[in-house]
Amino acid sequence: MSTIDLRLADPGLPPRAPSGDGTSAAPRAADAGPGAKDSPLWARGVRKSFGSAERPTHALTGIDIEVRRGEIVGVLGPNGAGKTTLVSILEGLLAPDAGQVRLMGAPLDDRAAYQRAKGELGVSMQHSVLPSTLTIAELVGTVSRLYPHPRPAARLVDELGLTDKRHHEIRHLSGGQQQRVAVALALIGDPKLVFLDEPTSQLDPQARRAVWDIVLEQRRSRGAGVLLTTHQMEEAERLCDRVLILDHGRVLDHGTPRELVQRHCPQRRIGFTTDAGVDLAVLADDAIEQSPAAGGELAVGWRPQDFDAALARLMELNRSGRLPVRDLQVASQSLEDVFIQLTGRGIRA
Ligand SMILES: Nc1ncnc2c1ncn2[C@@H]1O[C@H](COP(=O)(O)OP(=O)(O)OP(=O)(O)O)[C@@H](O)[C@H]1O
Ligand SMILES: [Mg+2]
Repeated sequence: MSTIDLRLADPGLPPRAPSGDGTSAAPRAADAGPGAKDSPLWARGVRKSFGSAERPTHALTGIDIEVRRGEIVGVLGPNGAGKTTLVSILEGLLAPDAGQVRLMGAPLDDRAAYQRAKGELGVSMQHSVLPSTLTIAELVGTVSRLYPHPRPAARLVDELGLTDKRHHEIRHLSGGQQQRVAVALALIGDPKLVFLDEPTSQLDPQARRAVWDIVLEQRRSRGAGVLLTTHQMEEAERLCDRVLILDHGRVLDHGTPRELVQRHCPQRRIGFTTDAGVDLAVLADDAIEQSPAAGGELAVGWRPQDFDAALARLMELNRSGRLPVRDLQVASQSLEDVFIQLTGRGIRA
């Protein structure tokens, strides 16, 4: 089956560069190797702009993404980066301006095939609107009957910690309980591909872990591929085989969480507290952050190039009394450090 270039709207856009020719600003999210187009999700060069020609918002400027069978792929990015726009296009809710998208091998422009492929897809959108006067049991039961091989509804509701609320109407549920119902609806059809757009943003730590377990179980039992957007870096590190970091509608980088940390933030971080007023110039390094800590102390964070030499120097300064060191901590940097490094510290509109 061939895919055709979808340029459904905005004829003012420049022609899309053929994928893989190296002219795209975005790094490729996955190699389009043999069979790649048959991955549960495959997309190339996805573009979308909103607004008028005079004042456009370029929400997506050429995204390549792929989710293979049994793979959990995270899309991370600041507010307004384009994550929900991307998920909406992949789900077939929003037409892209350009790009190729395939779901279970079915091209987006073949509406009948795409619609059939959506039978294998489970979706939890960022702003799900659930029927307010149905109970959880009624809603999950009704939706389960739409699928040929649904997961057992009562067990899914129980795994999400909602058994006690199953006869309550949706409108009487808390935000976090409603979000768990949305996750149940995404998984009730036992999908081969799952899109989860910030599925745990309102959940307490226990419920969040329950959702992680269920997502991992869907991958294990069904070999499902999962596309996850999240602002929680711990969630991405725990769940995702690969992540894409998106900003201003383009992919800044992609890889496994570990690859991204090694590529962008390889230095380990030394943290300690010391006396306020101590002159940190004795450390002779610029890679130092300081901030006031409880009890009038000074909290210091240091990302030295030469970790072993830095630690030895710090111990020597402590021994000689020139720099008192308390509460010493050593940590690898995390995906959150990578995120800040790539997308900056400025807050978004
Ligand atoms: N229907 C729309 N009309 C006009 N602009 C839109 C529309 N939908 C999204 N946008 C704009 O496109 C950009 C991307 O929005 P999107 O919702 O995809 O971001 P996001 O990465 O999901 O952000 P968040 O983390 O806040 O959920 C934003 O600048 C947003 O204002
Ligand atoms: Mg969003």
